[in-house]
Amino acid sequence: MCYTGRRREGCVIKFYITTPIYYPSDRLHIGHAYTTVAADALARFHRLCGHDTFFLTGTDEHGQKIQRKAAAAGKEPQEFVDEIVAGIVKLWERLRISYDDFIRTTEPRHKAVVQRVFQRLYDRGDIYKAAYEGWYCADCEAFYTETQVAGFPEGKCPDHDRPVERLREESYFFRLSKYADRLLHHIEEHPEFIQPASRRNEMVNFIRQGLEDLCVSRTTFDWGVPVPFDDKHVVYVWVDALTNYISAIGYLAGDPALRERFDRYWPADVHLVGKEIVRFHAVIWPILLMALELPLPGRVFGHGWLVLESGKMSKARGNVVDPHVLCDRYGVDAVRYFLLREIPFGADGFYSEDAMLTRYNADLANDLGNLLSRSTAMIERFCDGAVPEPVAAEDDGVLRALAAEVAEAFTGHMERLELSDALAAIMRLVGRANKYIDETAPWELNRDAGRAERLASVMYSLMEAQRIVAVMLTPFMPAAPERFWYQLGLDGDVRAQRWPAAARWGQLPAGTRVRRGEPVFPRIETAKIGVEER
Ligand code: MSP
Repeated sequence: MCYTGRRREGCVIKFYITTPIYYPSDRLHIGHAYTTVAADALARFHRLCGHDTFFLTGTDEHGQKIQRKAAAAGKEPQEFVDEIVAGIVKLWERLRISYDDFIRTTEPRHKAVVQRVFQRLYDRGDIYKAAYEGWYCADCEAFYTETQVAGFPEGKCPDHDRPVERLREESYFFRLSKYADRLLHHIEEHPEFIQPASRRNEMVNFIRQGLEDLCVSRTTFDWGVPVPFDDKHVVYVWVDALTNYISAIGYLAGDPALRERFDRYWPADVHLVGKEIVRFHAVIWPILLMALELPLPGRVFGHGWLVLESGKMSKARGNVVDPHVLCDRYGVDAVRYFLLREIPFGADGFYSEDAMLTRYNADLANDLGNLLSRSTAMIERFCDGAVPEPVAAEDDGVLRALAAEVAEAFTGHMERLELSDALAAIMRLVGRANKYIDETAPWELNRDAGRAERLASVMYSLMEAQRIVAVMLTPFMPAAPERFWYQLGLDGDVRAQRWPAAARWGQLPAGTRVRRGEPVFPRIETAKIGVEER
């Protein structure tokens, strides 16, 4: 099955990908960066394929948790979130996140759409007023039933380890239960809708246990979007937040140019979310869309958590790793590489300074960086600095065959969101190229005038394999592929390459003059990282 974005008329494939919108309740840590870097790699991959790509991220700024945090900091909520959001935007700049739009739920363009959505659902009879009594966790901004709370150890929310609160409010309710069968049917018909399969099974079991109507308004605080026909109420923050995926691209927008954006990109191809918020995206969100008579997104992918030895990274636990500190130490490319290579996408993965350093030195400094240094140095020494013309009879085809295999595997992995496997495939080619140098020993070929044609073919293969590697790395690394491209002697911007056309062997022109330079990933000695810095 092909999972790529949908084909529109004229054969252009469009691809719309989103991250969750982050709570600006605190500075973001490397766990948040993980989701965004993964989405960025996928957006860059689809642009590389020439797809009409739209990548959305943003911030989820309303709700009780934010209002309480602002009060604790002695600030107005808007002032409080503005400061944190400015830091988030800076972090995404640093990590070179190539989003097409950044939506803030406090923006008028979003609030207007939330109100129109709420009104529409009310007019259709899918929202009604009743009394709510139940439990709430302000940290996950989620309602819990008696039965759920009974299963929580000491009445504490299992995700946040804090007591849930008792709520008694007059509220508006959304008829979630009415759509449960339709949703189950959709999940059965579209097995790719919720991924990985373990998350899908969890969701199916959850829905089969029966859905209760959802409380979609609150009255005991006011930091939110007012219900359009009853301003004592604010819209429940998850309904407000989920709407970002359509408000940002112009759903029900006043401006026709913006509405055109909606027709062009909706439905989303991938909603990337952490595993703990799959239920909001795979149950509440599709039902809201059904009630609005909108098509459902292609895939909701729930990735795992980045955990430390002390557990899931969270501000509450005080065990967060600051992405800026890691970028200072290893560089943005290496941090992005580590996150996406180390953790199989979908599973939990451990972060440790040792693992980061090992990956950096083994994969980037030794394998990737050395391949470039060794091969450009040999081109200078044995070929007067220019890539030689290969001779067909002397070409053993080893790297050519593997490059073709890896290019195909890479494409398949990226389409199936197997980011770590895609990187492993690229590194397989890098590793083989290094081994190829040892096997063919170009320094010996160079000593024997009768073997000049073999030397030329070996050197050409090495450089050509690296051209393809540089292109495949562009979704993952924003800076290094350009440096590779330059040192290989190639002109123009590597990001202007198109995939899979760039994978065709033989595009590196013979005669290209290499430009040897500084190591792209200089080795980092363990000793430089002081214990006190950790
Ligand atoms: N605001 C909601 C999302 C609304 S989307 C309509 C929210 N925000 S969040 O800031 O708490 O989390 C955003 C994302 O960051 C989630 O996908 C979450 O899983 C991810 N992560 C937060 N900590 C993480 C790790 N330690 N590891 C991996 N991802 C983590 O939920």
